Amino acid sequence: MNYIDTEVIEAHKIKIINHLNNLGIENIRKEIITGLTSKQKTISSKFFYDKTGSKLFEDITQLPEYYPTRTEKKILKTIAPKLMHNLRHADIVELGSGDCSKISLLLNSIPKENLKTINYIPVDVSQSAVNESARNLVEKFPDLSIKGLVADFINQLDLIPKTSKRMLCFLGSTLGNFTETVTNQFLKNLSSSMNSGDTFLLGVDLVKSTDILHDAYNDSQEVTAEFNKNILNVINDLINSDFNINDFEHKAFFNQGKSRIEMHLIANKDVIINTPFSTTTINLKKGENIHTENSYKFTQAQINNFAKASGLNIKEIFTDPNNWFALVLFEK
Ligand code: SAH
Ligand code: TRP
Repeated sequence: MNYIDTEVIEAHKIKIINHLNNLGIENIRKEIITGLTSKQKTISSKFFYDKTGSKLFEDITQLPEYYPTRTEKKILKTIAPKLMHNLRHADIVELGSGDCSKISLLLNSIPKENLKTINYIPVDVSQSAVNESARNLVEKFPDLSIKGLVADFINQLDLIPKTSKRMLCFLGSTLGNFTETVTNQFLKNLSSSMNSGDTFLLGVDLVKSTDILHDAYNDSQEVTAEFNKNILNVINDLINSDFNINDFEHKAFFNQGKSRIEMHLIANKDVIINTPFSTTTINLKKGENIHTENSYKFTQAQINNFAKASGLNIKEIFTDPNNWFALVLFEK
């Protein structure tokens, strides 16, 4: 996560450009301070993902309690031949690509001669995730060309090339981390950037028993707690503040009324935060919380709403036998 310098990495078959500095570090700081001085304090979930955060998220995906990754990967493996066999002369764009292990499952099903005609465009705020996954992918798929974008997919969607035929992928139920307003706007923007015949593969986590949901965000090894607290280290780097992660406890619970997991950091004592970038002081009373993430859990009706909000057609919906996770294939 480098919001300050422009960075371009070029190697055989790989080009990665960091566009985050175009957002303006002062705007990023303003966004953080506004969130931390509001009545309900919030930090945007995009700030989870520095190098440590991306690594911790990878660890989360391996936890026995965190079913979404395992479930989505199983579905991807099953549907990959059908989705990928005939894809050629196209860009595969993946939003929030992370460790790229999911796209690997799809790329496995592209015939070798077709792979040469494909550009893979991972888009992620985490520079380390894009760098490391690009290196792994070219090793696995030497014919693939990779054009990585380190960028914010909410504010910088326009940076994604749209001249070729495209398959867009947005996996991991990352859409569930947006508010409803952002979701609808995002889907509308994405759809209007698509050309007729382009497809959009969306991974969404579905409503299920509260116990299963609760455990997925409260793992026994407390990796999720560590991940949640690490956001404060990222904020310290960005606004030169002095959050101490030991002053906070992880809290995650399913809010049934809103059909979402909510993630918070609770101050375990009165805390005063210093930063040169805020004119007002940032303080928390013991027990006060910072809201760091929502993870919405969806139903079939909401999937239909995504089609309405985007104006895209649902081509097919793929699920697992338990109906825990869905991959929705849209077409323009
Ligand atoms: N798709 C992967 C990773 C999911 S975690 C998987 O399913 O396992 C969410 C990913 O989205 C992270 O890699 C994070 O860095 C990225 N991300 C979060 N907010 C973002 C934003 N606003 N713009 C670009 N990437 C973002
Ligand atoms: N998109 C993931 C999800 O909603 C992100 C995530 C998983 C997450 N575990 C987390 C975010 C723990 C914060 C903390 O499931």
